[in-house]
Amino acid sequence: MKRLLALTAAAFLTLPLTPAAASPAGTPGAPGAGDPYFPDQGNGGYDALHYDLTLDYDPSSGRLSGRAAISARATQALSRFNLDLVDTLSVRSVTVDGRPATYTQSGSELVVTPARTLRDRRGFSVVVRYDGNPSHVIDPDGSKDGWIKTNDGVFNANEPQGAITWYPGNHHMTDKATYRYTVTVPSSRVAVANGDLVRQATKGGRTTYVWNSREPMASYLATVSIGTFGLTDRRIGGYRVTTAVDPQATGDATGFAERHPPALDFFSELFGRYPYSSTGGIVDHAPEVGYALETQTRPIYPRVPGESLLAHELAHQWFGNSVTPTLWRDIWLNEGFATYSEWLWSDKLGTQTVQAAFDEAYARPAEDEFWQTPTADPGGPENLFHAPVYDRGAMTLHVLRRAVGDDTFFAILRAWAGRYRYGNADTAAFVALSERVSGKDLGGLFDAWLFKPGKPSL
Ligand code: TRP
Ligand code: ZN
Repeated sequence: MKRLLALTAAAFLTLPLTPAAASPAGTPGAPGAGDPYFPDQGNGGYDALHYDLTLDYDPSSGRLSGRAAISARATQALSRFNLDLVDTLSVRSVTVDGRPATYTQSGSELVVTPARTLRDRRGFSVVVRYDGNPSHVIDPDGSKDGWIKTNDGVFNANEPQGAITWYPGNHHMTDKATYRYTVTVPSSRVAVANGDLVRQATKGGRTTYVWNSREPMASYLATVSIGTFGLTDRRIGGYRVTTAVDPQATGDATGFAERHPPALDFFSELFGRYPYSSTGGIVDHAPEVGYALETQTRPIYPRVPGESLLAHELAHQWFGNSVTPTLWRDIWLNEGFATYSEWLWSDKLGTQTVQAAFDEAYARPAEDEFWQTPTADPGGPENLFHAPVYDRGAMTLHVLRRAVGDDTFFAILRAWAGRYRYGNADTAAFVALSERVSGKDLGGLFDAWLFKPGKPSL
């Protein structure tokens, strides 16, 4: 249901001149976070701190009924603010600090006008009730993203923009928040999300799963995936490993949970301690989805992953999830680092040395289109997951390693993961940190590998 209100301007002009109104009357929050790749993504004027999502989903009808309670803090005096949510889901009510608010829905913007102006730097709470039949969106590169239905539930992956398809929020990666999910599904299904499984209770043929994600998370890393999963939740080698595996998944899932601690131990030694209170993975049967995603604490795979893919998604927990870019163009900070981590893991397993992986990637002829994309800006959202982001990104790190030596290189990676833990950082910050830690001028190296098109010479 959409409700159109033309009251905003009038309400603004008739604010009472009481002492309380001595505080600024407030202005609307920006409808986007200012990312050129996805201008509508995120919103200005507030910082989301926590999402408490209560979802009820019926896979046979595809119907979702949701309640999103969002705790936030104003970063300006706000006359109104936006949340991101597709308008194909119907918002039934919105309250701000417990009072009914007016709202409109248009495209992916839910515009909320609270009964009272929100004061700068004050906390406030928003409750949105909504329902509908969610579906995925198609990304600029043609892939499916968001609430992707499967034969038995949902493969829920949200990079770069799928979060708008299933819950309202500030959906740009610079606004991280903690999450709690309460998800009810028919008892024949399992609902798996990020963080720690807190509770599971069955009543009248329906099961409610409560998940708590206590470390800050960007929206694109959230997941609530639903299916006929076998769920395991065990302590293995010092980690809480929670896995959900679809028995129909392609591949051999034997020992899936046990495969996590060795890779996490290896990366912890190189990058610093594992940033999350639990780990694991979601293995779905989703042949129509062509990718895996590093959903926080618990990556999601469309089939049983091999060692390289597993290592890739686990390395993202440090690079991408804990340290997150500030703009989508800096995506190499995720994919280049995760690819380099694959190379490190293959080297450790004795499958292929890092140098051999580098040589293979570098062997692309100079005329190859591949070399025309500078690592630090793939040029547009349609190229976010193109080969140069991954392979040229990984090669950049290897060239850096050879320039500064192993000890300094891994000190840089640990400083990066430590200094920006749970936060955001951009390419310029990585360049500055590399120069600071190494004490070297790396301008020429980064210029050739990050910013200029063309095949850099060695
Ligand atoms: N970030 C994912 C990974 O590398 C890849 C990914 C997410 C992706 N969405 C995508 C790849 C869409 C292709 C298309 O682990
Ligand atoms: Zn990746």
